[in-house]
Amino acid sequence: MKKIVSFILALSLLAVCAVSFASCSKDDENVLKMATNAAFPPYEFYEGEKIVGIDAEIAELIAKDLGMTLQIVDTEFDSIITGVTEGKYDFGMAGMTVTEDRLKSVNFSTSYAKGVQVIIVKNDSPITSIDDLSADGATYKIGVQQGTTGDIYASDTPENGGFGEDRVTSYNTGAEAVLALTTGKVDCVIIDNEPAKSYVKTYEGLKILDTEYVEEDYAICVSKDNEDLLKKINDSLKKNTENGEIQKIIDKYIKADSAK
Ligand code: ARG
Repeated sequence: MKKIVSFILALSLLAVCAVSFASCSKDDENVLKMATNAAFPPYEFYEGEKIVGIDAEIAELIAKDLGMTLQIVDTEFDSIITGVTEGKYDFGMAGMTVTEDRLKSVNFSTSYAKGVQVIIVKNDSPITSIDDLSADGATYKIGVQQGTTGDIYASDTPENGGFGEDRVTSYNTGAEAVLALTTGKVDCVIIDNEPAKSYVKTYEGLKILDTEYVEEDYAICVSKDNEDLLKKINDSLKKNTENGEIQKIIDKYIKADSAK
């Protein structure tokens, strides 16, 4: 009798373990983990405690299509790709530009938006165009966000269209770079056009130069080991482009009249 009781006890214990283990791993399986750098309005930024923006809302559509719960992790822009390749995150979405170099480490989805690198200066700046920055003997200091395309292009040698890394100071976020501009630590900031518009609205006395620097495609990055997820993301992007949901989100954050 005693034996039977302990046998039943052991069995039920086993069952409890199995159930909790299953539910635990099932929960994990149902979470879609996205890495971003949430200081990049209107693509990702904080509204109170919550990360919102174009990327956050498109990611929400994708998670819904996959029947999963989206979890957004805010991290340094510079560490998104490494985190994705190491499997720490399922994908990275951060107004991220597709570049040859990044394609060596990750796959990119189809592009869901375009970006342009622009130059922000103070209203009374002597810099009036990109040529003023590259002119012979020019020493203007340039602020960028660490590891972004603005940083990569600007830090390149003059022969390659850059200004040389000695003239470039990189900051953790675009907002910090713009702050450095307002306090005169740098003479201009090179950054993507939509965040630029948003910063110029937030900080007084700044303007965006008319000259456009480089045009880019934004896409979602996924580990090269996860072709399946890439396909599902692309299917969801296609569906939500065709039914107009993505355009709705973009219009919500970028007012048609503010497009130049
Ligand atoms: N488009 C640029 C790049 O890919 C800047 C992106 C910065 N994104 C961010 N969430 N801070 O390098």
